[in-house]
Amino acid sequence: MFSKKKIKPQIDKEQLELIQNAQRRVKQKRRLYIHFVLFLVGAILLVVANVGLGIGKDFKIFELDWFVMAILLWLFLFLYHILNVFIINKFMGKEWEKQQLDKLITKQQVRIEKIKKELKKEAPHIAESEVYNEELKARDRKQEITIIAAAGENDAIGKDNQLVWNLTDDMQRFKDLTSGHYIIMGRKTFESFPKPLPNRTHVVISRQEDYKVPEGVIKVNSLEEAIERAKNDSQPFIIGGGQIYEQSMAYADKIELTRVHADFEADTFFPKIDNSIWKEIANTFHKKDSNHEYEFSFITFIRK
Ligand SMILES: NC(=O)c1ccc[n+]([C@@H]2O[C@H](COP(=O)([O-])OP(=O)(O)OC[C@H]3O[C@@H](n4cnc5c(N)ncnc54)[C@H](OP(=O)(O)O)[C@@H]3O)[C@@H](O)[C@H]2O)c1
Repeated sequence: MFSKKKIKPQIDKEQLELIQNAQRRVKQKRRLYIHFVLFLVGAILLVVANVGLGIGKDFKIFELDWFVMAILLWLFLFLYHILNVFIINKFMGKEWEKQQLDKLITKQQVRIEKIKKELKKEAPHIAESEVYNEELKARDRKQEITIIAAAGENDAIGKDNQLVWNLTDDMQRFKDLTSGHYIIMGRKTFESFPKPLPNRTHVVISRQEDYKVPEGVIKVNSLEEAIERAKNDSQPFIIGGGQIYEQSMAYADKIELTRVHADFEADTFFPKIDNSIWKEIANTFHKKDSNHEYEFSFITFIRK
């Protein structure tokens, strides 16, 4: 309990590497020096053997005395040794390997950062698709959840809890498409109607526990609950407003959009329709006339 703990000396890893590298270099240079001395002594001995003692006096290789050839060969080996210690080691030694590795790691990190950024951009789409696929598994696959909306060129859909245009043909199309179906809406959109619309089942979404709705109107606490309540309808419609459109983009199979060809001052907007998720399959243009103050197009999108 009271015995002293042995303190282990801590050596910095980088420092250790530096020391080992220095030791290795010292050894290499020492070997080169010994090689140099051996070369000098050897060369002198070869000269003495041939010139002084006359060993192999008449033996020539390529017209050169054999000892000259031997010294030249050795010189070549010695130069290669020098090259190895000072040049090759510098360019291809441990330091060089480490630098190349660092470069590669840096390149990889840049690529990883790029992939991360692209993934961040894609993440909402992936998340939306996942929500959609899970939802699709959970509900009857024949059901077609449809968003129906009218939006200006600047995506404006309403101001002061009212629409900002009056287009008779659009109203008629809304009536034709939604009649006989469930219509799902946010509390504010519901309150923008003077009274519930005939021949449709209203599902109103509100977080207020005690929110009172007229008889026949269904009040739910969430969009998911609204979709669940409409599960027996082959084509329930999500009819707005801005908050509910935003949340239901991940659940919808289809968008019936009336694009009003003008910009409007508004406080509520339709979410952007992402071309990578939605495909336009129909587009009908309507001119201005006495009943229609603006040009508009009925556009149908389905999920890709
Ligand atoms: N151009 C078109 O096609 C079109 C269609 C429809 C509506 N509009 C316009 O859109 C505007 C209304 O849109 P808005 O965005 O203000 O309101 P909204 O979407 O109609 O309703 C918002 C309300 O819905 C409830 N809600 C929203 N998300 C919820 C959730 N996840 N869980 C439970 N309750 C939730 C909340 O009610 P509580 O506050 O009660 O909790 C919230 O205040 C109006 O100007 C209307 O005229 C335009």
